[in-house]
Amino acid sequence: MSKLTVISHPLIAHKITMLRDENTPVKEFRELINEIALLMTYEVTKELPLKPHKVKTPVAETEGAFIERQVALVPILRAGLGIVDALMKIIPASKVGHVGLYRDPETLNPVEYYCKLPTDIEQRQVIVLDPMLATGGSAAAAIDFIKQRGANKIKLMCVIGAPEGVKAVQEAHPDVDIYLAALDEKLNDHGYIVPGLGDAGDRLFGTL
Ligand code: PRP
Ligand code: URA
Repeated sequence: MSKLTVISHPLIAHKITMLRDENTPVKEFRELINEIALLMTYEVTKELPLKPHKVKTPVAETEGAFIERQVALVPILRAGLGIVDALMKIIPASKVGHVGLYRDPETLNPVEYYCKLPTDIEQRQVIVLDPMLATGGSAAAAIDFIKQRGANKIKLMCVIGAPEGVKAVQEAHPDVDIYLAALDEKLNDHGYIVPGLGDAGDRLFGTL
């Protein structure tokens, strides 16, 4: 079974509370979700392997380290775009792939409309990004596509998750660790996370 990490930090708790608020305007929502993603990155990348690298300071030579396995960030369109910038900023050598999926509003099943990944994906640590993990259908399907194209080291980073989504991804992909900033109570009858924050894509892009 994969590992679930719910990242607990006062700054994240504070910013998630502001993010959830229905009165938070689009610009602030975007800034907050970026800041939360930035804080989460510290934990999500904690196990990246290092290789030794000597460095000469103005004073002496010393043993340093560089990241050995490069990163591929894969935001799930469209809401994943709202958190990819934060990770690109902190891991500038990462490549970015995109998987386009939307949930059919009737069936809640994910429908793929786009997939473009780095060609060396099998050599990279992949971090799949989506602010919301609801039924888990979108994340599980995105991870399927990414695995089909050769990736073998994948982590999933979402901001808010429901227990149903965590279970679905863990069952479908027991090798994929999941990172959340908040684990909420449940899904409602429309597949929305309760309490959640509403529709992440709409709140990010002002399409409410
Ligand atoms: C949202 C969200 C996830 C998905 C989560 O996207 O960004 O991708 O729903 O739901 P699930 O876990 O039940 O699959 P949506 O389908 O609304 O598309 P959008 O990002 O284009 O708004
Ligand atoms: N997608 C969202 O954007 N929000 C939810 O609560 C569930 C799925």
